[in-house]
Amino acid sequence: MVQMAPYNLSFFFVFFLLDCSFFPSVSANDGLQEVLEEHKIDLKRRCERVAEGIDEKGSRTLLNRIYTELYITEGQSEEVNTQHEVKQLERASKIQNLHDSPIRCQDIFKALADQHGAIRVVLTNGVAGVGKTFSVQKFTLDWAEGLENQDVSVVVLLSFRELNLIRDQQHSLLTLLHVFHPTLQKLPAEKLDVLKILFIFDGLDESRLSLDFINSQLVSDITQKSSVNVLLVNLIKGNLLPSALIWITSRPAAANRIPLSCVSRITEVRGFTDAQKEEYFRRRFSNEEEKASRIISHIKTSRSLFIMCGIPVFCWITATVLENLLTTEQTGELPKTMTDMYSHFLLVQTLRKKNKYDEGHETSPQELTKADRKILLKLGRLAFEHLEKGNILFYQDDLELCGLDVTEASVFSGVCTEIFKRENVFFQKPVYCFVHLSIQEFLAAVYMLHCLTSKNRECIKTSLDVFLKKATEKSLCSRNGNLDLFVRFLHGLSVESNQRIMGGLIGQMTNSSDTVQKVTNNLKEMNTDDISPERSINIFHCLMEIKDLSVYQEIQQFLKSENRSEKKLSEIQCSALAYMLQMSEEVQDELDLDKYNTTVEGRLRLIPAMRNCKKISGNFSSGYLNLYPVCFCSNVCSLLRLEHCRLSENSCTSLVSALKSNPSHLTELDLSCNDLKDTGVNELCGFLQMPLCKLQTLKLSELSCAFLALALKFNPSNMTELDLGQNNLQDAGVKQLCGFLQAPLCKLQILR
Ligand SMILES: *[C@@H]1O[C@H](CO)[C@@H](O)[C@H](O)[C@H]1NC(C)=O
Ligand SMILES: *[C@@H]1O[C@H](CO)[C@@H](O)[C@H](O)[C@H]1NC(C)=O
Ligand SMILES: *[C@@H]1O[C@H](CO)[C@@H](O)[C@H](O)[C@H]1NC(C)=O
Ligand SMILES: *[C@@H]1O[C@H](CO)[C@@H](O)[C@H](O)[C@H]1NC(C)=O
Ligand SMILES: *[C@@H]1O[C@H](CO)[C@@H](O)[C@H](O)[C@H]1NC(C)=O
Repeated sequence: MVQMAPYNLSFFFVFFLLDCSFFPSVSANDGLQEVLEEHKIDLKRRCERVAEGIDEKGSRTLLNRIYTELYITEGQSEEVNTQHEVKQLERASKIQNLHDSPIRCQDIFKALADQHGAIRVVLTNGVAGVGKTFSVQKFTLDWAEGLENQDVSVVVLLSFRELNLIRDQQHSLLTLLHVFHPTLQKLPAEKLDVLKILFIFDGLDESRLSLDFINSQLVSDITQKSSVNVLLVNLIKGNLLPSALIWITSRPAAANRIPLSCVSRITEVRGFTDAQKEEYFRRRFSNEEEKASRIISHIKTSRSLFIMCGIPVFCWITATVLENLLTTEQTGELPKTMTDMYSHFLLVQTLRKKNKYDEGHETSPQELTKADRKILLKLGRLAFEHLEKGNILFYQDDLELCGLDVTEASVFSGVCTEIFKRENVFFQKPVYCFVHLSIQEFLAAVYMLHCLTSKNRECIKTSLDVFLKKATEKSLCSRNGNLDLFVRFLHGLSVESNQRIMGGLIGQMTNSSDTVQKVTNNLKEMNTDDISPERSINIFHCLMEIKDLSVYQEIQQFLKSENRSEKKLSEIQCSALAYMLQMSEEVQDELDLDKYNTTVEGRLRLIPAMRNCKKISGNFSSGYLNLYPVCFCSNVCSLLRLEHCRLSENSCTSLVSALKSNPSHLTELDLSCNDLKDTGVNELCGFLQMPLCKLQTLKLSELSCAFLALALKFNPSNMTELDLGQNNLQDAGVKQLCGFLQAPLCKLQILR
């Protein structure tokens, strides 16, 4: 705040002068204060209550009562555009606390101690349901209540969802404000130039505006009419109200619609940390300590449930389901897999209104009425048909195409209110969506299996095991993993216990145990020659969903054993091992690929484990990384480097660029068995120059060393220690190294 002071002083000075010229009397100034106060009260009213998941009047709670601090960081993880959001969450749960600086949502416009320059445009990323809108609301509420950011005079809260609805209209910035914040109509237009205004644009991913930052017409006058997208571009670029602050939130996949040159700070909402997850449940069950403890200890028993609880919406799903199951004191097992949880959730929410579930009877197929099933299946069809297209928002036409009549009372006053919601918008055209993307994925899976098992088999004519195999193969080929969770649910739903919960929604699978055996075998033997090892891990998740714990247990056993190299690991075992090492609480000391007894493909599948290791070694030249440079890179490198990786002839390049995407733990890299060619060395230099690179010891072959020295000469890094201990440097290498050591920017202190 210290940096803000000069700005504020001059602002008040200018304000005073202008004020006198426009309004001769003191009472006019009071009038302005009144308008600003009124606006604050209006925003407070809008933001003080929230609905988790549901959006019904009456069921809203006070934001301040349930708000649990979220983990927000400055900067963002790489890869944001290429990975499925759940994958990103797994990564995030692993890498939080390690190298990002946390920041409170109320502080996002405040410069950190070592930063200079005003922060004008902030872009906040976060996966669906992670709490971006909650953060926006909390920020606004704290401002409106006079608690935070009081140097800002006006906060203008807009969502892209709302802006979509006027995208064909012509507005000036002034009339745009009036449309969404009628209280501001009393604010004289001239004031906007001198007041400190903060615009919040929530949900860029839902925007249907085309923001063209290159060819947009210039607008610098707040009364000049133009289309909404042009106004936005000019506001973000600073042509319109250059002193206004701007905060944009987005899901990661859409964040690149704002050029980074316009953005002063990027933050990422990471959801709940482990401690915040617990706090959420304790707050929610503040009067029932024992229940909170039981829920917390239950989710801790399942790694995948625990990871998912990083998303506040999933905590809400979990709380809803477990609260119900614990209240009714059912004797059955509590949900352990994601599919278990979602199956119960669907049932709880569908039957909640009828109070049937609460009576504590064993659920039976009769409990979902024919009408319930019909609606759920129509929703499933909507979910499925839009999943592949990546649509998360639906309009009335979309619903009608799936046979959903929006006036159908049961959709919105009965069964589905807490699964599917209508957004309350200002304008005539309502928008619909599932309360969370994962619910769309789940219902899509339910619908698919229904089609498969229903007698008339309109959609698919094949057996369950063949169908699942094809679906899994298809999902593995998708670069961004957008079908991963869907495929996990498909597998989970072929488990009999979940079919029973879904009561009649999915027909009987013929000779289930036999089929499940076939499905399990298919998963274990799935050929992934062209698939990246990151993506192959989803096969292991599918096994967990289908409740085949054999591979998991074998690897647990393996990790305890002393004679690891004697055991030959299958490919699926390697994926499981990679996953378990990657997610392990402990950072591994070493990953030496040469120490594992497995096939070439198996070694490949171990690669993801390196994210959680301090030391990596192995002969990376033996050809196996060449098997999949394209797939490997597409998930490990960021999108930008994809082209580069494709072109690379040297497997080390893939490895090093993979390292660049997550260098957090690595302190030692042994590449002495490998010869890096110049592309590889360039990647390596880029890695060494990353501020987050903690590498202390680097072992290289002689040839690579010469290349590296040459490259470092022109691009010195902050590395202080280079270990060339095992190298017998020949003339060429020494010469290059000397050149590097003489470079003025060389920071090397120790050379072995
Ligand atoms: C059902 O599965 C069992 C065990 O897998 C098998 O022995 C039996 O022949 C199967 N029955 C039919 C009708 O397919
Ligand atoms: C590894 O050692 C365990 C005992 O620690 C033994 O039971 C097992 O057979 C050994 N594995 C191999 C492959 O030799
Ligand atoms: C790898 O495993 C196989 C099967 O367990 C074993 O026969 C072989 O000796 C192992 N190789 C090494 C290098 O230990
Ligand atoms: C590494 O693997 C390559 C290809 O298999 C082989 O030519 C080379 O000798 C190996 N290097 C070492 C040090 O084992
Ligand atoms: C090197 O150190 C300086 C000062 O400590 C820092 O500003 C810079 O970001 C660092 N550069 C790299 C590539 O780590």
